[in-house]
Amino acid sequence: MFNKIDPKQLNFNPFSAIGDKWMLVTAGDSNKANTMTASWGGAGVLWNKNVVTCYIRPQRFTRELIDANEYFSVSFLPEEFRKQLVYCGRVSGRDEDKITGSGLTLLNDYAAPCFEEADTVLICKKIYVGELKPQGIVYPEHDEANYPAKDYHIVYIGEITEALVK
Ligand SMILES: Cc1cc2nc3c(=O)[nH]c(=O)nc-3n(C[C@H](O)[C@H](O)[C@H](O)COP(=O)(O)O)c2cc1C
Repeated sequence: MFNKIDPKQLNFNPFSAIGDKWMLVTAGDSNKANTMTASWGGAGVLWNKNVVTCYIRPQRFTRELIDANEYFSVSFLPEEFRKQLVYCGRVSGRDEDKITGSGLTLLNDYAAPCFEEADTVLICKKIYVGELKPQGIVYPEHDEANYPAKDYHIVYIGEITEALVK
């Protein structure tokens, strides 16, 4: 099981953990949960709180569950679970039960669902929700490259209420 630690004690590099290792963003409740792979996001400080930032496109099913719940989690899994991360990043929870399909073990012991197989889990209380706006994109090539469908990411900032490690 996990040990709860102070987020400041995390042995965690957000650039490699999010960008290379990827994370599972998970939301829901004990009746209905869903997860998706994300490799864009951040970890930092806002309003004197330790926070995680996720960028979620509006069409993601996970977005509905993040919107419907006060908390979400991000789970970081060891390399041996790369296949499951690819699956959770290709299939939508609208079409399949990804919790069952991934074979991962969902834990409902915390304020947001998360995964037993993770080596690090951050439980987050949603404190800010907002859209990236095309008017704010400084270089048009970033808009063209990332938003041909104009599906601008929604920014979710969560206060880390529990940092859990193995
Ligand atoms: C490596 C990887 C990283 C991804 N990163 C993000 C991301 O940061 N934000 C996002 O909206 N979608 C991202 N996706 C796409 C979603 O994971 C994917 O669309 C998923 O099927 C959504 O599932 P859902 O509809 O069940 O929420 C990523 C996919 C992969 C494979």
